[in-house]
Amino acid sequence: MSVSAATDPMLPRRYRVRKTWKELADVSTMELEALEGQSMAFQPGQFNMLYAFGVGEVAISISGDPAEEGKLVHTIRDVGAVSGALASVSDGDMIGVRGPFGSAWPVAEQTGRHIVFVAGGLGLAPLRPAIYHVLNNRDQYAGLTVVYGSRSPHDLLYAEEVRGWKSRFDTEIEVTVDHAEPGWTGQVGVVTVPLDRALAGNNGAEVSAFVCGPEIMMRFSVMSLKAAGVSEDKIWISMERNMKCAIGFCGHCQFGGDFICRDGPVFRHDHVAKLINRKEV
Ligand SMILES: Cc1cc2nc3c(=O)[nH]c(=O)nc-3n(C[C@H](O)[C@H](O)[C@H](O)COP(=O)(O)OP(=O)(O)OC[C@H]3O[C@@H](n4cnc5c(N)ncnc54)[C@H](O)[C@@H]3O)c2cc1C
Ligand code: FES
Repeated sequence: MSVSAATDPMLPRRYRVRKTWKELADVSTMELEALEGQSMAFQPGQFNMLYAFGVGEVAISISGDPAEEGKLVHTIRDVGAVSGALASVSDGDMIGVRGPFGSAWPVAEQTGRHIVFVAGGLGLAPLRPAIYHVLNNRDQYAGLTVVYGSRSPHDLLYAEEVRGWKSRFDTEIEVTVDHAEPGWTGQVGVVTVPLDRALAGNNGAEVSAFVCGPEIMMRFSVMSLKAAGVSEDKIWISMERNMKCAIGFCGHCQFGGDFICRDGPVFRHDHVAKLINRKEV
């Protein structure tokens, strides 16, 4: 069966940058609108392939609110040629978009449970759509804890928004930094310290946890969660590898027997536990 241009997953669609702003020195957020008019429905945790015309294409998580149809939001750190081109677009610029691709944080299926999000650095961006979902439907969940860590106060993503979450009476938000700076009055240390404290006040059997950040941070967070009695089949993590096709075709993102673009990026921890400790996969 032939695939039409409109449905070909390899064909980027043109999107206009409605607005863009700097989050941190090397991180920008862009809000996109489809030129063809069709909005993109997505699930929390999914990603798009963003194409900077003439430069190249990279995988970037969708970081906006899934309930806000017609508003596609991405947060990008400038680490190389393509992400650098995308992080420096201006309002009105065009980029190409393919997606959405990949698996999702199954947060909508965890109603009635205490939801714990653990984010490290830019890992808050892929988690934010799931956090929005719980905030928007807070009465359906027993509890909401967000533990967020960054290198320094200057590296805290969405800092004002996180303060807003903290000011709600129905959330527990813990923010910590590896290295303090003058004026910082918050917590200092790795995420597992506030995570362990937050878990101590809860029944681990009632917790569903979603973890995203550097692999070492995810490993230690999972150890804390398991030590607190959180079942391994109630812990999800998100994996990153270089991607090319994003549709399970080229093999670039192979991870053991899985392709991260197709079977991930969100995996239930017990599915990948054996692999994440091995550097070569
Ligand atoms: C599913 C998924 C979701 C992602 N979501 C986001 C996001 O929301 N925001 C964001 O800024 N980035 C995200 N990334 C990472 C992003 O795709 C890479 O930073 C990007 O591909 C770098 O491309 P480049 O050409 O700019 O840099 P390159 O020149 O290709 O690389 C520059 C440096 O970044 C490293 N790098 C390249 N790709 C990756 C990768 N996938 N993971 C880790 N390190 C990499 C390289 O080893 C090198 O050290 C995501 C990646 C995946 C797979
Ligand atoms: S990027 Fe091609 S198989 Fe995943």
